[in-house]
Amino acid sequence: MAETETEIARAVQVLRDGGLVAFPTETVYGLGADASSADAVHRLFEVKGRPTDHPVIVHLGDVEQLDEWGVEIADTARALTSACWPGPLTVVVRRAPHVPDAVTGGLETVGLRVPDQPLARELLRAFGGGVAAPSANRFGRVSPTTAADVFADLGDDVDLILDGGPCRVGVESTIVDCSRADPVILRLGGAPREELEAVLGRHLPLLDSGEIRAPGTLASHYAPRAHVEHTDGDALAAALAAAHERGELVGVIGAEVDDHRVAQLGVPRDGDQYAHDLYRMLRDADARGLDRVVAVVPEPTGLGAAVADRLRRASGAAS
Ligand code: TXA
Ligand code: MG
Repeated sequence: MAETETEIARAVQVLRDGGLVAFPTETVYGLGADASSADAVHRLFEVKGRPTDHPVIVHLGDVEQLDEWGVEIADTARALTSACWPGPLTVVVRRAPHVPDAVTGGLETVGLRVPDQPLARELLRAFGGGVAAPSANRFGRVSPTTAADVFADLGDDVDLILDGGPCRVGVESTIVDCSRADPVILRLGGAPREELEAVLGRHLPLLDSGEIRAPGTLASHYAPRAHVEHTDGDALAAALAAAHERGELVGVIGAEVDDHRVAQLGVPRDGDQYAHDLYRMLRDADARGLDRVVAVVPEPTGLGAAVADRLRRASGAAS
């Protein structure tokens, strides 16, 4: 479509000029800057409100660019990227010498990903270089899954927003650190752990957060303004009763509740739909001015595992 081509050409120009372009990916919207320009990446951190020693993922248009941005690529990284790219997987590998410190937060590694979203791929291929992009929200807030979410959060601080409709997956990419002898998962996400383990034919441990500089692993990340409480089906009634007792406006995710005082935010039928709707439901809770969201956590398999992880973090209960 000619209109899309013009938009992409404008976006490429903005990136070349050191500006910021928000663009859709299959996971969440990203806030992009030219990854080879330290100045552009600094501006990105400023708008995002993120500490500058946090590394940012470099997005690429083609699988072959893995070797332009990484060096000493391990077989595990090759296997995972050939199986999952384009797709919701980020691999951490040793960085090529030209990768700016601003991108890696001074680390010797870089996170790379080839997203699977038509507009994103068009943009990345037309630009040709790497695009550094965190999720297009202010630091610590819920990731955007529509162009309207991006605008609501960042407004005119973004030079251009590409609108690709709602994101297909809805939670961020799975991050696997392949730079160490034994690969580990740094963040659960859109590529199910079971599938990655099947590709490698080995168990992939989940690294406990703490010492690594990955904001997505901080407690109380991904949090709406409303207080998030996660529960199982059995404890739901007690959680709602306690909320009523405190006089709170409360909403529920993941269960049908026959109580007019409780806002119904959604009952996803499975982990995939839960992931797809999660951030919209949390934003909805804030839009309705709720004090508290009680969420019944899905089975922690497939995308349900990423959902359970984000709910724990939103509740501030993650370690
Ligand atoms: O799905 C996604 O991954 C989205 C879309 C836009 O691609 N991006 C995203 O970016 O979620 P961000 O910046 O919000 O989260 C990226 C995570 C951060 O926790 C960051 O610290 C970690 O990736 N990361 C990036 N490079 C890393 C590295 N070299 N070592 C360890 N962690 C890294
Ligand atoms: Mg983020």
